[in-house]
Amino acid sequence: MGNHPIGEVLEMAEHGENLPPLKLDRTVVLVGLMGAGKSTVGRRLADALGVPFVDSDHEIETAANLSIPEIFERFGEQYFRDGESRVIARLLEGEPCILATGGGAFMSPDIRALIHERGLSVWIKADLETLWNRVKGKPGRPLLQQENAKEVLATLLEARYPVYAEADLTVESHAGALHEDVVADIIAALRAHAGSNEETP
Ligand code: S3P
Repeated sequence: MGNHPIGEVLEMAEHGENLPPLKLDRTVVLVGLMGAGKSTVGRRLADALGVPFVDSDHEIETAANLSIPEIFERFGEQYFRDGESRVIARLLEGEPCILATGGGAFMSPDIRALIHERGLSVWIKADLETLWNRVKGKPGRPLLQQENAKEVLATLLEARYPVYAEADLTVESHAGALHEDVVADIIAALRAHAGSNEETP
């Protein structure tokens, strides 16, 4: 893992140009499959932009006072999804921040519509091998706590990628990508997006 100071990250994002700081006018919502790096990248992105970072999975755990696996085990996936919708709706009402969402959240048409209305979605896209190498053997993801976890991940990828592709922006996270590089790519994409909006009459 790389360890660039945040100033360097910003410099990379700006390609050495002396650009004004990027100011968020809406929450940036990170979407993507488990292992994409939404939380790790999100935290660093928030630091770089000087805005709060919020992780919807973490908020659900705090609200329920249970871990995600415990919520799935005791109450089932639908209960988790209902909580996820409520938490994301609440978070999208707050000040602009960086919001990392659980991999299933963007699959809900209601959540998607809300994110589209109030936020700006960024899909962190990675291939199956990259994702698998990052998630295999790690606890905490109930959907992958089974023998054929890689197949499950592959099936989720097939089903979800066409929907994640509806995100406003997409950045790629390659196998050896440093989190800092992904952060820099997101900042560049946000800046380009802000610029293209300004040019629209
Ligand atoms: C899920 C992804 C998890 C978590 C839950 C369900 C999913 O979050 O929300 O286990 O449906 O893909 P991460 O994507 O942060 O691992």
